[in-house]
Amino acid sequence: MKIKGVPYRTIWVNDDGWSVGIIDQTTLPHAFVTTSLKTWQEAAHAIRAMIVRGAPLIGATGAYGLALAMREDSGDAMLDEAYAALLETRPTAINLKWALDRVRNALHNLPGVERAAVAYRVAAEICEDDVATCSAIGDHGLKIIRDLHEKTGGKRPVNILTHCNAGWLATVDWGTAIAPIYKAHDAGIPVHVWVDETRPRNQGASLTAWELNSHGVPHTVIVDNAGGHLMQHGQVDMCIVGTDRTTRQGDVCNKIGTYLKALAARDNDVPFYVALPHSTIDWTIRDGVREIPIEERAATEVTVMQGRTASGEVVPVTITPEGSRAANYGFDVTPARLVSGLVTERGLCDATEAGLTGLYPEFA
Ligand code: MRU
Repeated sequence: MKIKGVPYRTIWVNDDGWSVGIIDQTTLPHAFVTTSLKTWQEAAHAIRAMIVRGAPLIGATGAYGLALAMREDSGDAMLDEAYAALLETRPTAINLKWALDRVRNALHNLPGVERAAVAYRVAAEICEDDVATCSAIGDHGLKIIRDLHEKTGGKRPVNILTHCNAGWLATVDWGTAIAPIYKAHDAGIPVHVWVDETRPRNQGASLTAWELNSHGVPHTVIVDNAGGHLMQHGQVDMCIVGTDRTTRQGDVCNKIGTYLKALAARDNDVPFYVALPHSTIDWTIRDGVREIPIEERAATEVTVMQGRTASGEVVPVTITPEGSRAANYGFDVTPARLVSGLVTERGLCDATEAGLTGLYPEFA
């Protein structure tokens, strides 16, 4: 996507041919800053500290992390060490394991001298695959938005609620849940997006709002608990969110609070869609509630918020009493029965094992 007319992806190889450029997502929306990763440890830190985040981008960063490791030392011990350290940076998004496995499998049995070049090549393929995949998700999701626009008489914008950031910042480009919104906006279909702020890290208020603002898509930021009220009053035509891990029966694990939106959507007959690339499907599990590890992050993400003061300084402020404990669960699972449909790069399907294996027969 473009920022002030300049096309960007979220991750790239710099002109030196080996260091990895990323956008520092912790400084948005107040400053647009890019930075470089020069070691696999820096890649691991960027994922853990959420300098990069979003399931597909975590995977792409992990892949380049292995390439950086192979550049330093192409032996098996380094490969195993970097693989294990990168894998444990964030436990919920399966894309990380998918991408690390793809690189490691390509290096298996290769002589050391070839490993770094192959790792960079596979990391680049993962990125290209993600861009094409997300663009196709956008095309398939666009049809849903177009149908809704026609159904509502074509006279008013389609109101779409989303949670967290599943836009281009969460992927290499385009996004998952936001890709159909960009495609609809670009096709001239009027859309308006309700953006959940997404406490505690405010990916909605900071990142989704910044993206939509940069692209000129009309939107309104709301507190996380406003969605049910809006749905009761006919202000939401559809919800669409991303997912960090999707089970083979169609359960979806996404940013904490997604489940409550799905419950409110079901109670108000609002369609609830989930957009995902193939790399987010964990074919080894069925029951998301019992089988997906839920990341727990530092309590300070709940007790301390960051914001810009009137003088332009970005400062942290504590919002809880000293002595109150805080818990910080990063994700929740929305059972498949609450999902109206899965939007993938191969098309739309029911959130069921038959639906998913119908689109991906190679995993039946
Ligand atoms: O903790 P984050 O910011 O990495 O969580 C991101 C999300 O929950 C997204 O919705 C998810 O990765 C799917 S988007 C491509």
